Amino acid sequence: MLFDFDQIHDRSTSDSSKWSRYAGRDVLPMWVADSEFMAPPAVLAALQQRVAHGIFGYGRPSASLTSAIRHWCADRYQWQPEGTSLVYLPGLVPALHLVVRALGITDLPVLVPTPVYPPFFEAVKAAGRVIQPVPLSHVDGRWRLLPQVLERAISGRGQLLLFCNPHNPTGTLYRPDELAELAQLAADHDVLVCSDEIHSDLLLQPELRHQPFAAISEDAARRSIVLMAPSKSFNLAGLGCAWALIADPRLRMRFKTAMHGLLPTPNLLGLVAAEAALREGGDWLDQQCRYLHANSLQVAALWQRFGISHSQPQATYLSWVDLRALGLGDAAGWFEQHGVGLSDGAPFGAPGYLRLNFGCSRSQLDQGLARCAVALERAGVIGQ
Ligand SMILES: Cc1ncc(COP(=O)(O)O)c(C=O)c1O
Repeated sequence: MLFDFDQIHDRSTSDSSKWSRYAGRDVLPMWVADSEFMAPPAVLAALQQRVAHGIFGYGRPSASLTSAIRHWCADRYQWQPEGTSLVYLPGLVPALHLVVRALGITDLPVLVPTPVYPPFFEAVKAAGRVIQPVPLSHVDGRWRLLPQVLERAISGRGQLLLFCNPHNPTGTLYRPDELAELAQLAADHDVLVCSDEIHSDLLLQPELRHQPFAAISEDAARRSIVLMAPSKSFNLAGLGCAWALIADPRLRMRFKTAMHGLLPTPNLLGLVAAEAALREGGDWLDQQCRYLHANSLQVAALWQRFGISHSQPQATYLSWVDLRALGLGDAAGWFEQHGVGLSDGAPFGAPGYLRLNFGCSRSQLDQGLARCAVALERAGVIGQ
């Protein structure tokens, strides 16, 4: 079956955080990481059936969902986590906060590879812990955490590393050998790794494979908390369903103790949607990824035309660009004035950069990129 990603949906009256930011203004929102695609038909059917049941009392994740997640991991990542390692969550951001509050040697700084998704910093700050930024390096067109740079930043045993793979905002998908090097370093220095893998299924080329951090080795599994969700891949973020995979029973117990009474179980409809997505959404996801890949090439062509420094994402629907040379001051504000809402790099730890979300239909993308082109021309950048 062929799915239609060209269709345009009006989200202006749907309580969308992405669209309400610019309500009443002619600004195309290409910022927060949700996409413009309707969820897979199988997910919609499962939700409709559940809504028709009409009773929405307290929910609880079923054994059948756990089995669907394990099958997904085996099929997509050649990884076989135990069902007992799963801890269900209402979202990944609360889990980041919880990890920072409850785990790692709490008087040592938290290692945060930078730039990164802003809640990584916010979680550390809110917990009253110190951030140890670790700059990512731009090597061969990819932003990544180099082992030697991480090693220099480590200041004691038992430190917590907040890792993100695939990486938001740069779109890097770490290769197994790169992860193995990082895992070895983590073992050598007894680093605890919280690996946010929410973008693990948004791979832009069919030959790419996601490697969960915990799948690298037994030691990596013991010292890691892997966070996953169907929310980006299937555009279900508003349904509040995610999970942690924590192989080590003691670590899992500490995590569960810390979450008790603070984090609810996932939303009932989120559970239904997640299971339908994992069981029946594979084809839809693969087609979406092909669509996104074509979008990513179109975005790259625009940046190239104007000589803007960017990196080609291997995963995610995010494009990360360096506009520092333009001296715009408020680059995000400048693009907004020209009708397109991008994410400002400053909260990611990289002022002067912007992030563009290309998870949308081709015609919305054309419109957004045309507005970006005008913004660049008016900033004095000469396109070819
Ligand atoms: C890396 C990363 N982690 C977590 C989230 C948000 O997770 P949740 O909506 O489950 O809290 C996002 C959303 O953009 C993200 O990019």
